[in-house]
Amino acid sequence: MKRLDRLYMGTNTKMYKTISDTTAFLSRLDQLTADIPADHLELFVIPSYTSLESASRTVAGGRIRVGAQNMGWEDEGQFTGEISPVMLQEIGVNLAMIGHSERRHVFGETDRQEEKKVAKAISSGFTALLCIGETAEDKAYGLSDETLRAQLKIGLHSITAEQAANLWIAYEPVWAIGVNGVPADEQYADERHRVIKETLSELFGPETGLDIPVLYGGSVNPENAPLLIQMPHIDGLFIGRSAWDADRFNAIIRTVLPLFGSRKNAASPQSGSCKSQKEEIR
Ligand code: PGA
Repeated sequence: MKRLDRLYMGTNTKMYKTISDTTAFLSRLDQLTADIPADHLELFVIPSYTSLESASRTVAGGRIRVGAQNMGWEDEGQFTGEISPVMLQEIGVNLAMIGHSERRHVFGETDRQEEKKVAKAISSGFTALLCIGETAEDKAYGLSDETLRAQLKIGLHSITAEQAANLWIAYEPVWAIGVNGVPADEQYADERHRVIKETLSELFGPETGLDIPVLYGGSVNPENAPLLIQMPHIDGLFIGRSAWDADRFNAIIRTVLPLFGSRKNAASPQSGSCKSQKEEIR
């Protein structure tokens, strides 16, 4: 397995936080994390559409990257309620989350729609954060890995290996997300991450495939974050509720950052354990 240099930590604020809540949150988070070197941490926040412009201004020149919760697959057109990549670029946003569980399961988005959105995002110069995850029913039938592989193979169908440099993946089991969610235990999550990395290697070749960050999300909290981040295939955490207070989010980041560093050192790309994991993936 190829080790990534940086820890990825992000939050999606869903349909919470007004413009003023978002800017206050971002200012505080920026202040709290300013001393962490950019090459150790990729930190991102995905607020509501109405907050995006002021959020983008608030973080300009700082260490936090701001992204959109959804994005249409055309530059313009008869798509009421959608926001296009051109509109996002106009306000300085170049990160788009695609296919969050709530988009798929509350609003009925399909893998084929996610494919169009990922293709449009990347060809427009965005980083695309594709979210995937199995339902409780998939899991009960033993189909978790099949679901993840199908979501990746369809969602990334039009992406080339070169374009995959602008791709991040979030693994978020549907049954683990939100107030009624049960967090995945770290072994279960890591095994799914291994399957995701194996599929990305199949699609883009092992070198490129293993460079794509894969983040875990779904009821991450201060207790399970340290356990999850030490697993060999987990490159970062994508957090909802536990990250919506800047001080609490900063505390999680401070706890996991040194643990991620030790994981990285434990198996550098040259080490034996890395080689054997890479061979396992092949
Ligand atoms: P949660 O949300 O951490 O509140 O479960 C995760 C997500 O939906 O990304």
